[in-house]
Amino acid sequence: MSLTRRSFIRLSAAAALTPAMAGALRRSTESDTAALCRKLADDPLRPQYHLLPDHNWMNDPNGPIFFHGRYHMFHQYNPAGATWGNMNWAHATSPDMLHWEHEAIALSPTPGGPDQDGVFSGSAVLDNGTPTIIYTGVAPPSGNNTTLRDGSHTWRETQCLAVAQDEALRTWKKVTTPVIAGPPPGLDVTGFRDPALWREDDKWMLILGSGIRGKGGAILLYSSPDLRNWTYLHPLVEGTFSGKDSSNPVGAGDMWECPDFFPIGNKHVLLISTMGKVRWKVGTYANQKFTAETEGVVDWGSYYAAKTMLDRNGRRILWGWITETGPDPELIKAGWAGVMSLPRVLSLTANNQLQTTVAPEVSGLRGAQIASSGPASIANIGDVRMNNLATELDLRLKPKIGEFTLHFHSDSGDFAVISLSNKEGSRVVTINEQSFPLPSEYDSEIRIHSYIDGSVMETFVDGSALTTRVYKIPSGPLGLRFEGNVRPISLEGWQINPISKNRLTSPLCSP
Ligand code: FRU
Repeated sequence: MSLTRRSFIRLSAAAALTPAMAGALRRSTESDTAALCRKLADDPLRPQYHLLPDHNWMNDPNGPIFFHGRYHMFHQYNPAGATWGNMNWAHATSPDMLHWEHEAIALSPTPGGPDQDGVFSGSAVLDNGTPTIIYTGVAPPSGNNTTLRDGSHTWRETQCLAVAQDEALRTWKKVTTPVIAGPPPGLDVTGFRDPALWREDDKWMLILGSGIRGKGGAILLYSSPDLRNWTYLHPLVEGTFSGKDSSNPVGAGDMWECPDFFPIGNKHVLLISTMGKVRWKVGTYANQKFTAETEGVVDWGSYYAAKTMLDRNGRRILWGWITETGPDPELIKAGWAGVMSLPRVLSLTANNQLQTTVAPEVSGLRGAQIASSGPASIANIGDVRMNNLATELDLRLKPKIGEFTLHFHSDSGDFAVISLSNKEGSRVVTINEQSFPLPSEYDSEIRIHSYIDGSVMETFVDGSALTTRVYKIPSGPLGLRFEGNVRPISLEGWQINPISKNRLTSPLCSP
């Protein structure tokens, strides 16, 4: 059984004790860990085929990158508990974006350094083949250099750089002083973090999530010849002021976190996170300015801080943090919090709406088929049984005018309900308590594609996405029931195979 950092600290302290006392403490620590491992591996609400922390808290995806035949996913992680705090970069690797293994923590705060209070979000790039990370460090402010005030914290944010020391990306060497030490002079920012990077001609470009006091959200654009010396250019794009007070600028939509910026076809896409949602803007990038033409929401549910990367074939893949909706005491009781979304693929419609679907390779996790296409299986929809909260369902249907609902239920009641209100000029999908509009015409076919994994349900409806959290343990397998005006066209469903034997609780708990 490997030791947690906290149990290691407790064991080290035990060195000052008598051998008998130290032995007793070690045994109690080991049995604490064993009990935690059993609880985590037996938690039916803990996903089995998503990446998630072995225990404790995670949030944003950071610096996802394909390097030397493996995918590396870093993410915000609290090694000391199941609620937000003590931000480190945890590290997981995968050969295929589906099967993940946890590695040791990649980046931790350096005492006395510019990241002494937290290693916040950022990006990884290959600098002439060498993986290099730029991230936001937070430290106590001195004088008037505070850039983050959210009602609970007051910090100075600077942009810091670290270089990989090995091909497995396990060891990183930090540059001791920030590469961007503060906001451009004269800009009164409400936040200054989450660098995203790209190559343009012979330069590096960097954007930062920000906001300008009294003016609203802003994305700040920089350029550099070498990733170390940065010149501020101008805002890539600016928002409009909400008029709300600035005690929590992200909550008001006046500070934009976690930007990401990339081309799709001949358009550019900007992602930002604010007011609890990831928003997209599609438009034109010319002369280092971005003009948004269309905009929308990436996922209408419990999903935040999305970030993209290029996969081994140069395809753009989107990752996002699936947030918890329960209160902190529930997270502490469960011993873990936060999940990484399944890999998603982005595309644009003819009128430049951003579409999200799950990456096709996720079908490689399919196990037993629980429903198969065609009218016969539709007639038997009541016979479908979905086991272990680990399933995929793919349904095509033609709704009629009015309402229809699809219940995912067990004997103890509904686990989830997907409904559609279908009127001329207005189509609204609701999944449990969350809704979103569908742009399609009331008489067109609909595809509902849902992945259930423990307390996570990722649903895609015609290119829109909504991630739901459900903290209910069903009394047995889930069945399906339709109500209302609908003509089902086809239904397919599968059990989904777990990606580990123990709900990804190694290395805390050896298999
Ligand atoms: C978004 C965010 C980022 C920040 C990180 C800290 O969820 O607030 O802006 O870098 O989380 O954990």
